[in-house]
Amino acid sequence: MVANIKTIAFQGVEAVSVEVQVHLAPGQNAFTVVGLPDKSVAESRERVRAALSAVGLALPYDRITINLSPADLPKEGSHYDLPIALGLLVAMGALPQSAVADYLVMGELGLDGSLIGVPGALPAAMAALAKNYGLICPADCGPEAAWSGLAAPDKPGIVAAAHLLETVNHLRGHQLLPPPQTRAAPSAGDLPDMADIRGQKEVRLALEVAAIGGHNLLMSGPPGAGKSMLAARLPGILPQLNAGERLEISVIESLSSKRGGVRLADRRPFRSPHHSASMAALIGGGRQARPGEISLAHCGVLFLDELPEFSRQTLDALR
Ligand SMILES: Nc1ncnc2c1ncn2[C@@H]1O[C@H](COP(=O)(O)OP(=O)(O)OP(=O)(O)O)[C@@H](O)[C@H]1O
Ligand SMILES: [Mg+2]
Repeated sequence: MVANIKTIAFQGVEAVSVEVQVHLAPGQNAFTVVGLPDKSVAESRERVRAALSAVGLALPYDRITINLSPADLPKEGSHYDLPIALGLLVAMGALPQSAVADYLVMGELGLDGSLIGVPGALPAAMAALAKNYGLICPADCGPEAAWSGLAAPDKPGIVAAAHLLETVNHLRGHQLLPPPQTRAAPSAGDLPDMADIRGQKEVRLALEVAAIGGHNLLMSGPPGAGKSMLAARLPGILPQLNAGERLEISVIESLSSKRGGVRLADRRPFRSPHHSASMAALIGGGRQARPGEISLAHCGVLFLDELPEFSRQTLDALR
């Protein structure tokens, strides 16, 4: 029998639908994952096998084939563990297909069956909301996913459990989990105050104009003239974020986080990368595509202190 579980892959900040298809066929004992998995996805076999045995289930002595469809889209990250495990449970008859039909699933599994947070819960929840699905994710990702509004009473909801067994019990209706609650960001303390600056009327006017109009600003002057000091005080005079911008900033933060648990942004980002930062660190990309400094500064400020020290290639790439 074939079981289908819906999950996602990330292309930049876009969440692309991916289907995990699990097929059990009588025959030689084998477990293969196909559909362009990277190393972390291929290794999920071992985590899934251990996690299922931790909840008292042995994998059938069959030929198990997992296909991540569309097959030509490269899949990376550890969030395919949980959809693969739930797909196997459906294929083995331990869970009805209808119990998971309305959910997007994401999450990493520990060998003991615990669910480990993954990046991207907020964009995943937003994708689920757009398609009118619910979201099954690790408990650590629950509060972050709840910011999407998916946990509202009239929506399919978020199932955020700390263990595979809790997820399965919830889906079978044995032990209901409470919907996750959003967590407010702890106030990050006061920003450096523009009132610390003595004089410098023209530069302050230029900073104000740049802050309101979203303009680029180049400061040049002798050492000790106060350039770094003035730039550090720019975040304090930036306009308030609106709801859409807060969500946009948080989506990027969510994708670059390691274990999820991102809180909703309450202020504009101020990024000041060192001039020795690599091109991938600044503009994003690399083997595992992650947002770069320029993306992390979305709706905020990218401050390049000691600008002439940055390499020509990075400045060109930023341009
Ligand atoms: N207008 C000012 N009001 C108050 N303090 C100032 C002012 N200008 C400079 N300072 C003092 O001088 C110090 C040095 O300033 P800052 O490091 O911002 O200079 P800079 O222009 O960035 O120099 P560099 O080119 O060497 O990086 C500040 O930390 C602050 O103590
Ligand atoms: Mg300086």
